[in-house]
Amino acid sequence: MRPATARRMALVPDPALASAKLAVRDVARVYRSARGGKVSACADVSFEVHPGEFVCILGPSGCGKSTLLNMLAGLDRPDRGDVLIDGHPIAGPGPDRAVLFQEPALFPWMSVAGNVDFALKFVGVPKSERRDRTMHWLAKVQLSRFAEAQPHELSGGMRQRAALARALACEPEVLLADEPFAALDAQTREILQAELQRVWLDTGKTVVFVTHNVREAAFLADRVLLMSAPPGTIVEDRAIDVERPRNVDDPALARVVAGIHAHLIEEVNKVVAREIGSA
Ligand SMILES: Nc1ncnc2c1ncn2[C@@H]1O[C@H](COP(=O)(O)OP(=O)(O)OP(=O)(O)O)[C@@H](O)[C@H]1O
Ligand SMILES: [Mg+2]
Repeated sequence: MRPATARRMALVPDPALASAKLAVRDVARVYRSARGGKVSACADVSFEVHPGEFVCILGPSGCGKSTLLNMLAGLDRPDRGDVLIDGHPIAGPGPDRAVLFQEPALFPWMSVAGNVDFALKFVGVPKSERRDRTMHWLAKVQLSRFAEAQPHELSGGMRQRAALARALACEPEVLLADEPFAALDAQTREILQAELQRVWLDTGKTVVFVTHNVREAAFLADRVLLMSAPPGTIVEDRAIDVERPRNVDDPALARVVAGIHAHLIEEVNKVVAREIGSA
């Protein structure tokens, strides 16, 4: 069988795949290390994300969370398996997906509004619509008063909110986030988690959000995917059935956190044991 045919066969509509916004099918990624060895970043990873779902990915350091997110963003490709959006292979970055990283990566020489405007221009929004759309999204993340400020005049939390406004202003179907709040202090992080929940409830975007923080995952997610020690694979796919809008102090959430935390610690301990064993 020719490879092209085999690939098409793999994409024959499967009811689960047809309704999925994003699908990761038997994915593996192996990197070459600088010393010529191979590093298996993730293996046999399969999951689906449905339209409008908020999915968090949790797992020990080095288990391939960023690798998976980069593949969904189209910044990296699997060595094996398929990464699909609306049933089609992801061939590269596209305006249907916005990505947020730990560092907000705003252009330092542009104002906050200028950064949002630039992104809108890049995706082809006409000038006549850009100012209104920029101000609408800055208001949603409570940055209206800072529209003309330069990024260096903002706090870390405000910069990350500006990046969120810039990402959502472009109206992507999917938001991909790799530990976007990890560098923030605990209070700012909680405020941004609540804001993200509010914006998500408002817009119904499909979100894949990578984090190390179990409380953050339980608070935000419809489903938490827990990855194993490296090479990472999904060891638990847990629905979080706590009512929204959620409150960080909800005891139901605390019980969910305890359950996920216990499982995560098992995987982290495997990494530690391996490191001690090889020391
Ligand atoms: N470009 C690359 N070249 C070589 N190895 C890489 C590359 N990117 C990732 N890796 C390796 O792949 C593995 C998974 O990395 P990845 O960044 O996806 O993990 P992670 O789960 O996001 O970790 P963390 O929680 O620390 O951010 C690691 O062993 C890492 O060293
Ligand atoms: Mg990472």
